[in-house]
Amino acid sequence: MLLLKKKNTQEREARQVVESPAMSPDLVAEIERPPLLSVDDAIKMPLERMSQLFVDHLNPGQLHFMKLLGFHKVKIERAEGMFYTDQNGRKILDFFGGFGSLSFGHNHPRILAARKRFQDENRHEIAMAFLSQYAAALAHNLASIAPGDLDMVFLGSSGSEAMEAALKLAERYQGPKRSKILFAEHAFHGKTKGVLSITDSKLYQSEFNLVDDVVKVPFGDLDAIRTALENDPSIGIVCLETIQGGAGIVEASPEFWTGLRSLCDEMGVLWVADEVQSGTGRSGRFFAFEHYGVVPDITALAKSLGGGKTAMAAMIARKPVYMKAYGKPATALIHGPATFGGIGEACITSIEALNIMYDDNLMQNAAQVGAYMKAELERLQQKFPKLIKDVRGRGFMLGLEFQDFSRTMPMAVRPALSMLDEKLKGSLSGFVGSALLREHDVLVAFTEYNRNVVRLQPPLIATRENVDQFITALDTILSGGVVKIVSDFIKSQRG
Ligand SMILES: Cc1ncc(COP(=O)(O)O)c(C=O)c1O
Repeated sequence: MLLLKKKNTQEREARQVVESPAMSPDLVAEIERPPLLSVDDAIKMPLERMSQLFVDHLNPGQLHFMKLLGFHKVKIERAEGMFYTDQNGRKILDFFGGFGSLSFGHNHPRILAARKRFQDENRHEIAMAFLSQYAAALAHNLASIAPGDLDMVFLGSSGSEAMEAALKLAERYQGPKRSKILFAEHAFHGKTKGVLSITDSKLYQSEFNLVDDVVKVPFGDLDAIRTALENDPSIGIVCLETIQGGAGIVEASPEFWTGLRSLCDEMGVLWVADEVQSGTGRSGRFFAFEHYGVVPDITALAKSLGGGKTAMAAMIARKPVYMKAYGKPATALIHGPATFGGIGEACITSIEALNIMYDDNLMQNAAQVGAYMKAELERLQQKFPKLIKDVRGRGFMLGLEFQDFSRTMPMAVRPALSMLDEKLKGSLSGFVGSALLREHDVLVAFTEYNRNVVRLQPPLIATRENVDQFITALDTILSGGVVKIVSDFIKSQRG
């Protein structure tokens, strides 16, 4: 029997199903082809359709913020090194860097070549029955880079997944009686349910039922940690970002970190260092904790570990910790392997990325050019003390905090501001970020919790010339003064 089906002429194709004598009736049931878009359709999709599909299927609320900032008018056609190229051939300097995921810039030629070679040789991605030479090599590289006996690696695909692995490992090691986790105010560790419990956001935590065995202290306050540990022996895990990202790029003192290491040793507590954002070279050292000469018990990486081309994350643990938790055949499968943890091309990408990091001295560049950028921002702070409140961070993990204008915004612009989203009212960072893109072709990012902070995380390949382009743009915008910045923004909303 021949079934010929023709559907919705525009998007559905004719399809033939030929029944063989051995087929059961179920197997010959018509399978309609849904109105699938092709790769070509995706590449050529006009902006209006993108917005519509975002509303229909992805995240309508997120589009609202993109519209406020004017980011929804940009369709990226290419991305190379430090720049995006949009539909009009405009080159946009990337000082956002995908929240730290683009340390190697866009489409690094060596990373593309490694991936292409992997494809051309028809290498396998997933073969969980066999050993993977790619996962083995990546784990070796990570263990070689990580200090001390941080030697055991779990591979995953997101920062949250690596952090979940870290917390589960710590709990397995400590046992149920010491499974309480101490974390910091304004922490961001991800949005999956476990790590959400130690992500300090009422909004993100919403009304979810979370892990309640947690305790919160101010970030960088060793006395608060000591008191908490002394009062509650069930705290067996301290989990901290080494540089807080979502909080608005916040660092603790060197003494805090050395003190923390000693305290954890003294009290038999495991220290989990979340390096998802601050790691992979961003701070000018591979791990930000290396600035302080200390080694945590467990750490986690993601973001740029994927070379800006793939989803790759790693949890790295001290060998004795790992061995106690999962070292025997009976415990080996308790956590992992994850289906996509350590798949072939992703590992190859990361292996090549790590080699580039050292071959091209990217950490040195982040330290040197980052220090130059910080000095330039501090110069602007001196020039505009009423606008810039603080400049923070190290390497290419910098935060620029504007003064809060919620109460002091000039009368002239207040009525117009009432039409804006609550998050943007009185916050210069949104207005300046929007002007940087609109008028100067520079992209920057914002932080989760401090709306007055612009987050600057350019690729680690950024040059002084790139920094100069950004600084000149910022100087020009700030020279216009608050009223002009806000009124230009309001005009852009009407346009
Ligand atoms: C410090 C930190 N930890 C964890 C995460 C979660 O990573 P992911 O979004 O890949 O799940 C992030 C993400 O921004 C992060 O900044």
